[in-house]
Amino acid sequence: MQYQYIQTECEDNVGIIRLNRPEVVNALNLKLIDELTSEMERMDGDPSIRAILLTGSDKAFAAGADINEMAEEGAISMLWRDQFAVWDRISRISVPIIAAVSGYALGGGCELMMNCDIVIASETARIGQPEINLGVMPGAGGTQRLTKAVGKVKAMEMMLTGDPITAEEALQYGLVNKVLPVEVYYQEALKLAKRISLQAPNAVRLIKQSVLKAQDHRLAEGMEYERNCFYLLFASEDQKEGMKAFIEKRKPKFTGR
Ligand code: HXC
Repeated sequence: MQYQYIQTECEDNVGIIRLNRPEVVNALNLKLIDELTSEMERMDGDPSIRAILLTGSDKAFAAGADINEMAEEGAISMLWRDQFAVWDRISRISVPIIAAVSGYALGGGCELMMNCDIVIASETARIGQPEINLGVMPGAGGTQRLTKAVGKVKAMEMMLTGDPITAEEALQYGLVNKVLPVEVYYQEALKLAKRISLQAPNAVRLIKQSVLKAQDHRLAEGMEYERNCFYLLFASEDQKEGMKAFIEKRKPKFTGR
């Protein structure tokens, strides 16, 4: 598939997507988000792809939604444009999405990062929700996901001042998993994605779904969901292989069946 604003490749069982609008620090226009979502869904439906790695450039993961595209819009046109519906599809991707984030992850860029499951950041990452400086507010989940991730007072500070935080602060607040020098963050993220791609694929997807349930369901509902997923995995060949390999003291070979 030929895309204008993203580049894609596959390495082993990892699907790699690179945001590629360097002239505007990877600002997320509607076409880019549309391409990104379509490609993620395509990868999600390809059984040979077992993890997605999402990245930008060393300078910018993404500087937010495209301001030029929104500047002259009115409330009614924004309502019917319903640009966030496509974002909901990203949150339904069932393979894990690992983000390799460097430079700016602002506004919609920060919201996109928070839609990913694991985040490896470079030391240069600057993460924030600066919409307040434009007279608006986050619209793709920032007020909700950031608050859940970093807690109320830090989220308030970030969104009411618009000031970005450093990668180290993001690590301290649990917004990213690891901070590494810019020379190595991408390779480390790829290594992690490859490692996850060797695990039993059904278990991987059901763990992702169950963890996401914990974010917006009550404990009892989440526990019930988890338990049913756990039982379901006993219908897989990979469960037999994983447990047999342990008993035989060898490495398991998972097939996805
Ligand atoms: C459109 C953008 C852009 C954006 C940068 N550019 N961010 N265009 N939308 N979000 C353009 C600039 O206008 C400029 O174009 C070129 O990219 C390079 O940017 P510079 O500002 O010259 O680069 P630099 O000095 O390195 O500063 C980088 C930056 C700054 C700190 C990221 O560009 C910036 O503050 N951008 C806006 C960030 C922001 O407010 N994001 C939130 C957007 S609203 P020219 O033509 O001059 O070269 C949002 C709402 C979310 O995300 C809703 C859900 C999707």
